Amino acid sequence: MREEDVSDRVCVVTGANTGIGLVTARELARAGGHVILACRSEDKGRAAVAEIRENVGSKTVEFLQLDLSDLANVKRASEEFLSKGIPLHLLVNNAGLAGTRGQTTQGFEIQFGVNHLGPFLFTQLLLPALGKADSARIVNVASRGHLRATGIDFSLLKNSTKSILGFREYCVSKLANVLFNMELAKRLPEDVTTYSLHPGVIKSEIWRRIPWPIRPLVTRNMLTVEEGAKTSLYCATNLAIGADSGRYYVDCQEAPTNKVATEELALELWNRSEEWCQEYL
Ligand SMILES: NC(=O)c1ccc[n+]([C@@H]2O[C@H](COP(=O)([O-])OP(=O)(O)OC[C@H]3O[C@@H](n4cnc5c(N)ncnc54)[C@H](OP(=O)(O)O)[C@@H]3O)[C@@H](O)[C@H]2O)c1
Repeated sequence: MREEDVSDRVCVVTGANTGIGLVTARELARAGGHVILACRSEDKGRAAVAEIRENVGSKTVEFLQLDLSDLANVKRASEEFLSKGIPLHLLVNNAGLAGTRGQTTQGFEIQFGVNHLGPFLFTQLLLPALGKADSARIVNVASRGHLRATGIDFSLLKNSTKSILGFREYCVSKLANVLFNMELAKRLPEDVTTYSLHPGVIKSEIWRRIPWPIRPLVTRNMLTVEEGAKTSLYCATNLAIGADSGRYYVDCQEAPTNKVATEELALELWNRSEEWCQEYL
């Protein structure tokens, strides 16, 4: 498998303080990348930076505060990155949450807001830096859960979570990741590519909201976070998929998406997302 050399390339990984994101960031740093961990908690983010530095002996690992549940914070974080004046070679939109109920600062359903709208805005705002790189990639960590969504009811997205466990809304937010990736691929310059993926069913903190006595039972046969990072790293570095922008991957192979993931729905989601983020663009 031929891989892109990431040494000295600038990589931003969101939600990199734990789980799949932490392993993704660590492996990119091990390969010599200049890795920026974009995390909502300063304490957890800086602890992860220290852990990676110690683990792989890299000095070019940094922290960037980013809370995807607040579009104003997303804008501030992107401005902080852009103020460095450096190109961005790789953006891994990894952060996500599941099994939560509520609304974001701007009133969007929490999973839709954190898993789709925040990353939508973050990516838009970082495009000038991605455009400065000789070639750049965007990796969107979606989920096979997107296959369970039956579409997007746009009237529900400016409300609190309707379902009791938030699973239905999670699946819609992950469908949004796949749709965003499809539409983004059409709009990017030729030397910037984008991919989406399912990481596997992984024992990470994503299951943190399942009550304690049940959680170990539910997660006992799941794959490790190291396994979980493999497809993200594949999409980030594999040279053979370079031209396959907009596609979806499972187990490091292209996979079919939900049949409701049409070009029309992707365009509608894009237009609405742009409108919702207008104030911050
Ligand atoms: N684990 C699985 O089986 C599985 C399956 C399919 C897809 N995925 C996807 O894989 C990605 C990584 O998940 P994971 O399993 O590694 O979960 P995880 O261990 O819970 O990590 C999620 C990361 O996202 C961050 N995050 C949550 N809300 C955020 C916000 N408002 N702003 C910024 N960052 C935020 C978390 O930060 P805090 O630590 O501060 O909360 C954490 O760093 C997610 O997109 C998830 O949907 C996971």
